Amino acid sequence: MDNTLVSVRSLRVNLMSPHGIVHAVRNINFDIGRGEILGIVGESGCGKTMTAKSILRLHDERKILYGGSISFEGRDIFGLNQKELAAMRGADVAMIFQDPMTALNPLHRVGDQIGEMLVYRGASRAEAKEKTLALLEDVGIHPAAERYRQYPFEMSGGMLQRVMIALALSHKPKLLIADEPTTALDMTVQAQILKLLVDLQKKNNMSILIITHNFGIIAEICSRVAVMYAGVIVESGEVHEIFHEPRHPYTRDLMMSIPQPKAAHRKLLTIPGMPPDLREKISGCPYAPRCGQVQDACRVSAPEMRQGPDSHSYACCNEICYA
Ligand SMILES: Nc1ncnc2c1ncn2[C@@H]1O[C@H](COP(=O)(O)OP(=O)(O)OP(=O)(O)O)[C@@H](O)[C@H]1O
Ligand SMILES: [Mg+2]
Repeated sequence: MDNTLVSVRSLRVNLMSPHGIVHAVRNINFDIGRGEILGIVGESGCGKTMTAKSILRLHDERKILYGGSISFEGRDIFGLNQKELAAMRGADVAMIFQDPMTALNPLHRVGDQIGEMLVYRGASRAEAKEKTLALLEDVGIHPAAERYRQYPFEMSGGMLQRVMIALALSHKPKLLIADEPTTALDMTVQAQILKLLVDLQKKNNMSILIITHNFGIIAEICSRVAVMYAGVIVESGEVHEIFHEPRHPYTRDLMMSIPQPKAAHRKLLTIPGMPPDLREKISGCPYAPRCGQVQDACRVSAPEMRQGPDSHSYACCNEICYA
């Protein structure tokens, strides 16, 4: 059986805004394998959320123009009608966001919110309650019977993120998309939630697409990573390959900006300058204006994605980057 769950090809996402057309995602390619955790990493505004939401077609499609294709188990997502799309969202893919409060109703008990979802999908009230309690236990919410009755405001941020994960897993999705799921949490709780995601991924054999601006999170849980900059993927491959031998100057700069306890004396790099305005056409490498190794050629034409060793590929036209 083909091991690819999601295949994204030449994806472009253009957004009509009052200030012009934002070319938020510019021709990207990646796959998500079954049972794999893929990370997309990059600074704020580079198009991570736009990419993730495209898989579920969560955008307001009156303002968005898609190009390219996304297939899920061979089905063309952009070709689905609204009914088929709703079925796919309900059965195959779930998404969790940075702020769980935006997805939970403050006026209802958390257990009831999960239970309602199960009833909507055909469970009886009694089955829904039993399954909700099991889901709460699964995501580490104890004692489940007591927590079931609480309202969102009675729970901490980490606890609410666990509720969101339980809600997302209630229909056993094949793919869980987690968009900055731990950004609002402190370091200890962040580590617990990441461990929970990995445990659940193994237990349910699902795939996870995790979106983050933090390379530390990628190192912690992902097997493969795509590094995004200004709407394009500039480097991708196995996490260990990229950590040991980052090839794109942006990846290197991003990695130098991670605080590392063992190298506390090292000065953290901040990347000078700003990413380009995504309303404009970018000729050449999008990172050229900020790149410490820039050459004249980098400003002329966009670098092609080159295949490196193993699954590692990178888009840089500067030969010294391949050394
Ligand atoms: N409603 C909107 N109107 C105009 N521009 C938008 C809108 N939504 C997103 N954009 C632009 O699209 C680009 C990609 O946005 P996206 O939300 O995907 O970034 P991101 O990588 O997820 O960033 P962050 O890490 O801050 O969440 C950004 O430059 C953003 O400014
Ligand atoms: Mg985002």
